[in-house]
Amino acid sequence: MRLTYTSDVWWKNAVVYCLDVETFKDGNDDGVGDFRGLTQQIDYLAGLGVTCLWLMPFFPTPNRDDGYDITDFYTIDPRLGTLGDFVEFMRTAHDRGLRVIADLVVNHTSDQHPWFKEARSGKDSPRRDWYVWSDTPEPDDPKQIVFPDKEDSIWEYDEGSGQYYLHSFYRHQPDLNVGNPEVRDEITRILGFWMELGLSGFRVDAVPFLIENVNPKLAEPHEFLADLRAFMTRRMGGAILLGEVNVPYEELVKFFGDGLGDQITMCFDFIGMQKAWLSMARNDATPLADALRERPAPPKDCQWAVFLRNHDELTLDKLTDEERQEVFDAFGPSEDMQIFGRGLRRRLPTMLGGDLRRIKMAYSLLFSLPGTPVIFYGEEIGMGENLDEEGRMAVRVPMQWTSDGGFSRAEPVREIPEGSFAPDRVNAADQKRDTHSLLRWFQLLIERYRECPELAWGECTVLDAGHPAVLAHRCDADGATVVVAHNLCDTARDVELTLTGLEGYQLTDLLVDGAVEVPEKGTVRLPLDPHGTRWLRASPPKIAPEDASVKSH
Ligand code: NOJ
Repeated sequence: MRLTYTSDVWWKNAVVYCLDVETFKDGNDDGVGDFRGLTQQIDYLAGLGVTCLWLMPFFPTPNRDDGYDITDFYTIDPRLGTLGDFVEFMRTAHDRGLRVIADLVVNHTSDQHPWFKEARSGKDSPRRDWYVWSDTPEPDDPKQIVFPDKEDSIWEYDEGSGQYYLHSFYRHQPDLNVGNPEVRDEITRILGFWMELGLSGFRVDAVPFLIENVNPKLAEPHEFLADLRAFMTRRMGGAILLGEVNVPYEELVKFFGDGLGDQITMCFDFIGMQKAWLSMARNDATPLADALRERPAPPKDCQWAVFLRNHDELTLDKLTDEERQEVFDAFGPSEDMQIFGRGLRRRLPTMLGGDLRRIKMAYSLLFSLPGTPVIFYGEEIGMGENLDEEGRMAVRVPMQWTSDGGFSRAEPVREIPEGSFAPDRVNAADQKRDTHSLLRWFQLLIERYRECPELAWGECTVLDAGHPAVLAHRCDADGATVVVAHNLCDTARDVELTLTGLEGYQLTDLLVDGAVEVPEKGTVRLPLDPHGTRWLRASPPKIAPEDASVKSH
């Protein structure tokens, strides 16, 4: 198969936009975002150019973990609308060419889920084995505690039934037992249900936890992931699993399905993300360049999902203590910005001190990295966080549509940030009118990213830029090449790149007007502004740059 069938494997160069229906747009004036509000904003999202929406959990929930604690997998949280509203939203999204995926949170349920209520009713309950119980749990390893501010064990004693149950996250989130075939069937049914309603796949929460610590131990834990992928592919060829798999690269390849690529379609590159932040903290591209060189190539039917921020803390758990401290010092020095001892509860623009040049460089870097970019709502307009909100909620602030907020006509579900990132300073409406805005920059980056499938599909080579502050790489696919360079520091840099095979080619700038020829010796000089960025399309002599790109189908 040629590389260029981007519509079959659409996710290989999708642009994924994560949003929480609850904080995006209120359509019925009750202060809570909802599907009607989201539907009204579909044209904004289509105009931005994103191609796939990832909806954070929208299911009924007691909301003790912002919806990651579900009490019914088969319907909509009534605060967010009805199934009817959901279907109307799906129809509108599809009409504008947008695919939709949703969070699949099946490592655990809420302790208020009827399944758990039944399971804990007694040791003989037919549902007992849907969860993981023990009379004598192993002592806790502190490394297993995900939320150390609230929990000190992954086991909780259930007075009523006289056993401990496993909870990898909060104690109110008992782990489902995928060692039980009935549970595996039920999870498959959930996938089938939402795919029937039009979803193109799922962002799978906490994947490693899902297949670990089950009872009985699965002989081949990864077989379950392969079964899910096979089920989805049978029902819908292009359906995907986008996995939250924050483990070292050596372990992570197993989640793709080793060489086979038959399990998780796309895994988030948590390592690359953390190294990118270390690079930005040091103004030195080396950590990120090393990560890109070390990162295994995804199997043919898989892809990396790249990101800089998401809805959780900016986790720095894979850095050394010293490296983490460097990032803390640079981007979140005060204690209230830090969380769990391992991360930052901030959004990108505030961390970069509101410096628009630097912010634009960071996102240009993101869109040029090999993989599928995933952005979190509000990143496109440079929204800040609200540190007055508890824990990770600091970054989950209401979307800022207009100078007076525009999220809701009622008192909004969460407080709107004040100060230099308040809606009167940062909002979508103003940025639409401003050609130099971050929003316009995102539109340009997305357009160019989509026009350059080489970035997502191609073979990526990190180039020797001769200066540590500059990351330069090239992506080659089907005889077409894109070369990009990013200057991480705030002084101008001239770099010299050796571009083997491109001698005599023209390099045409894709983000600004301009072009440069690669001399016959193959080494080209590229001036970069402070925090400057260049995306260049290589075209052979006498071929128009537009005709030198690998084409999407
Ligand atoms: C990962 C999610 O991203 C996070 O927000 C949540 O708290 C945990 N999984 C538990 O579901």
